[in-house]
Amino acid sequence: MTVDPAALLALAESTAREAGAMVHRRREAVERMDVAATKSTPTDVVTESDTAAETLIRERLLAARPDDGILGEEDGHTAGSSGVDWVVDPIDGTVNYLYGMPQYAVSIAARADGVVVVGVVHNPASGETWTAVRGGGAHLDGRAIRVTSCDRLDLAMVGTGFGYDADRRARQAAVLLDLVPVVRDIRRAGAASLDLCWVATGRLDAYYERGLKAWDMAAGALVAEEAGAVVTGLRGTEAGEDLMLACTPGVVDELRALLERLGADRDLS
Ligand code: IPD
Repeated sequence: MTVDPAALLALAESTAREAGAMVHRRREAVERMDVAATKSTPTDVVTESDTAAETLIRERLLAARPDDGILGEEDGHTAGSSGVDWVVDPIDGTVNYLYGMPQYAVSIAARADGVVVVGVVHNPASGETWTAVRGGGAHLDGRAIRVTSCDRLDLAMVGTGFGYDADRRARQAAVLLDLVPVVRDIRRAGAASLDLCWVATGRLDAYYERGLKAWDMAAGALVAEEAGAVVTGLRGTEAGEDLMLACTPGVVDELRALLERLGADRDLS
């Protein structure tokens, strides 16, 4: 199938900016944001902005490309017939958004025949937009970006995140107990798409998390990969829901081996 990545990128970027402006306006308009619903656990929340943004994004994408499919965090999968599927997180970092913390993003990726070819992550609070086209490099606000050249795990700044399930969190905390003493420091920013873009930009040397969904990682993983990160799972698997590791090449072998030893891809048994 032939696609025009530049056209997909332009559509993803304009849509992410429009949705981002809308959710940012809504957040600025209130001192406290209400939880509209909860999902997997009481801490896994949805605001009215999440659903309004996903509706807007679906309308814009399907108005331009009616035969495409869409997989969105809030409304699930709508099948298409063109071979292009959009993967959408209307607000990644909803808990940050709820609390008025500026680390949240609209994340939109386009897959052609199952392969992510375009990724856009837009943080409306900072005004930053990361873009990537497969084979075309990664950019922040139009400027080419690159991962760090860090080659020592003890000097590596490592990002991570936690799922919403309490047992999984306990396991993730146990992994951290052994990781914190052997790296420069740990960050938990609260938006996986931004963590991945921060690896791409050199704000983190590595990021790993268990349990991410396609909408959390599709766009950001392409940005990280195109900026030179190794994007991988553990034990010879590809990056995915079991474990996403995006890492500057100089520390990936050591960090991957350590995460395997600590069982970062396992839950409590
Ligand atoms: C969450 C964020 C968070 C990560 C969670 C994700 P959401 O996405 O990306 O950083 O730790 O695993 O579910 O729920 O805010 O879209």
